[in-house]
Amino acid sequence: MPSVLIIDDEQGIRAVLKDVLEDEGYEVILAEDGYQGLSRLQTHPVDLVILDVWLPNMGGIDVLKKLKEDYADIEVVIISGHANIDIAVKAVKMGAFDFLEKPLSLERVITVVRNALALEDLRKENRTLKNSIFMEDQMIGSSRAMKKIHELIEQSAGSDARILILGENGTGKELVARAIHMKSKRVFGPFIEVNCAAIPDTLIESELFGHEKGAFTNAFARRKGKFELAHKGSLFLDEIADLSLSAQAKVLRVIQELAFERIGGEEQISVDVRLIAATNKNIEEEIKTGRFREDLYFRLNVIPIFIPPLRERIEDLDELISYFMKKYKHPKYAESKKISPEALKILKSYHWPGNIRELKNFMERINIMTEEQYILPATVNQYLGAKEKDKKDSFLYDFSDMKLNEAKDHFEKELIVQKLKDNEYNISKTAQILGLYPSNLHNKIKKLGIKIER
Ligand SMILES: Nc1ncnc2c1ncn2[C@@H]1O[C@H](COP(=O)(O)OP(=O)(O)OP(=O)(O)O)[C@@H](O)[C@H]1O
Ligand SMILES: [Mg+2]
Repeated sequence: MPSVLIIDDEQGIRAVLKDVLEDEGYEVILAEDGYQGLSRLQTHPVDLVILDVWLPNMGGIDVLKKLKEDYADIEVVIISGHANIDIAVKAVKMGAFDFLEKPLSLERVITVVRNALALEDLRKENRTLKNSIFMEDQMIGSSRAMKKIHELIEQSAGSDARILILGENGTGKELVARAIHMKSKRVFGPFIEVNCAAIPDTLIESELFGHEKGAFTNAFARRKGKFELAHKGSLFLDEIADLSLSAQAKVLRVIQELAFERIGGEEQISVDVRLIAATNKNIEEEIKTGRFREDLYFRLNVIPIFIPPLRERIEDLDELISYFMKKYKHPKYAESKKISPEALKILKSYHWPGNIRELKNFMERINIMTEEQYILPATVNQYLGAKEKDKKDSFLYDFSDMKLNEAKDHFEKELIVQKLKDNEYNISKTAQILGLYPSNLHNKIKKLGIKIER
């Protein structure tokens, strides 16, 4: 239900407008003057303001100015008497949507309000669209590998050929997918992303194809799936190798027939969608082990784009560093930080398991955490791979991949071996120290397969 704030000092006008607009299904909030109106807005977000130009205390034009400054998204409709129509015109020039002349024609009130709200809906839609194709970063790098990737993007963007992007974590697969959409003729259509790994198998079908009301418990309303939402745009199937085999079969069918049904629906829905898929898995390996359908792979892999790991195109590091240094520069400094040659050497020989994402996080960290303007090796060592190092330093690191029972056995064994060594394999002494009966220790030594080396 859209909501409308009416700011007018005349009680009669407030009452009439409230009646009409509530009949039309809007929520109506009232204010007697500009101050009251602005304070209402702080507690109650609205979609539209109807504003009298002639107000006591703070004039309508001043209120409008404030509205445009602080609530640029809210449309404003002006009410004016015939005598001050010139002010109304000025208001429209300042960004008001339209004006209503007194005495009010109720029909016109309804039309103008409807149009204003429709415009606002369009604006919102436009914004979500812009956000959806937004690229977090420019694609930096002029190594041979990056040049090749740029070429591939240029060559393939214009067609509707399906693209499979391969690369380790954080190499920029999503960035490449977005770049392709941006350069394609579908740029004004939606870019819809599905993270196949993040959606439980039971929901993936409904997520991709949508469902009709009542198709299953909790299907309270019809819902469009991602394929439908991506109509006239691009659908980015991220982590495609994590799709279950049954979902793979369904995706394959859509690719072949360019049509599908919503779950619980009869109607065939045809869509015009360009598919871009990505994975960080070795997909050929997945095919060999039967976890990925070969026929789907062939369908998706019309144009493969492989993004090599950062360590294999380390010549891009200088450009990337200066880009991220600028990006994360603190406003209190005039210049971005510099990296000393020794520190750069460390960065160049590092293996970057998290690729560009890891580099980006590292650059952000040193910009936030250090005052140092000239980054020295010590700082790099301190912040590089901090997470990995923290983990390795932790006593639990060795157990991190184990089930509890396995971890317990492991720990028990390590401790017993250590104590036995400390006590030169003297069983009764070791048992005493561990608070066990010697027979008990014997049993454990056998069960855990501990060798007594003497
Ligand atoms: N060439 C590049 N230049 C600048 N920034 C980049 C580049 N490549 C990637 N990035 C940035 O690095 C981060 C990781 O990129 P992205 O999310 O595209 O990687 P990904 O391969 O999809 O990773 P994952 O496999 O973890 O999903 C993003 O913030 C992205 O903007
Ligand atoms: Mg990704």
